[in-house]
Amino acid sequence: MVDLKTQYQRIQSDIDREIQEVLQSTMFIGGPKVNTFREKMEAYLGVKHVIPCANGTDALQIAMMALGLQPGDEVIVPAFTYVATAEVIGLLGLVPVMTDVDQETFNITPAQVEAAITPRTKAIVPVHLFGQSADMEPILAIAEKYGLFVIEDNAQAIGADYTFSGGHSVKTGAMGHFGCTSFFPSKNLGCYGDGGALMTNDDDLAAAARMIANHGQSRQYYHDKIGVNSRLDAIQAAILNVKLPHLDTYNASRRGAAMYYDNVFANIPDLKIPGRQHNSTHVFHQYTLRMSGGSERRDDLKTYLQELGIPAMIYYPVPLYGQEAFAHYWPGGTLPVTEDLCHSVFSLPMHSELNEEILKVITDGVCGFFK
Ligand SMILES: Cc1ncc(COP(=O)(O)O)c(C=O)c1O
Repeated sequence: MVDLKTQYQRIQSDIDREIQEVLQSTMFIGGPKVNTFREKMEAYLGVKHVIPCANGTDALQIAMMALGLQPGDEVIVPAFTYVATAEVIGLLGLVPVMTDVDQETFNITPAQVEAAITPRTKAIVPVHLFGQSADMEPILAIAEKYGLFVIEDNAQAIGADYTFSGGHSVKTGAMGHFGCTSFFPSKNLGCYGDGGALMTNDDDLAAAARMIANHGQSRQYYHDKIGVNSRLDAIQAAILNVKLPHLDTYNASRRGAAMYYDNVFANIPDLKIPGRQHNSTHVFHQYTLRMSGGSERRDDLKTYLQELGIPAMIYYPVPLYGQEAFAHYWPGGTLPVTEDLCHSVFSLPMHSELNEEILKVITDGVCGFFK
């Protein structure tokens, strides 16, 4: 699904030099590489504060802790997402309230969010799924109307731009009270281990998040809050310092591959190419098609491709409320779009190193199934 090796080989001398510098400095935790990354990331995203941490799941947890969410508070999340988004909600004793998503963009919708609000609702977590922004302007307006916090789960959309009706564009992750992201190796901006970060424009929230990520420590050996130990290590920061300047090129390359796929698959009646959010750019963390004919046929296609040596993945086969760990939060029934997506979606290889030769093999393979 990804080709991290070719990408590494293209920047190998820079990566190896940066890692060597960390090894020679023996500053493995914190230090100049992490500070440089933080500053570069703040400039890239146009956000006041970036707080690096150990992974994207921690970033979500730290955000919810820094906002002071209390056990029993309800947090609205899409039912069609990766588990991490809801996992930390459960871990903190909060209540995930799962909502349906848009059939075309796979993202949470303002109408679904508003319908899910109760007197116990405290926060909304829009997930910018597969690489494009949820429709943030109306979501932010709803949050303001009801006095709710917004935590953007930007693990899959780093580098995407959302354009407000006034015409100004903001990077995803820089619009909510917090944005959270992951630098897992296969992410659009990935390191070579685990990594993550929070973003915020609020000085007090930034200070709270920084403190929580460091054992709730206000100064050395003085602990004002219960915190966690969540740090981005210096080797990962050094790698990210090399890769960040390439992020826009990587994302453009992904967009080019998506256009190639679109052109071929638009002619296959049983396939629906991914819809685009009109006011967001798309950075294609995943290229996800919908297929008609039910999940068995979709799974047959996956097996057919596998036999040709072409990977395909189902992101995601089960709604959050269908997962055993989350069933007790669910009042019953199903969400129609989420159900339909879990039975119809499949994702094809998507990364920065796809060329026409590889794309032709993949698309020929998919077309072969429909002949
Ligand atoms: C939407 C979403 N949220 C959160 C995460 C969690 O990130 P991490 O794996 O770095 O903890 C991921 C990563 O897989 C993700 O895709």
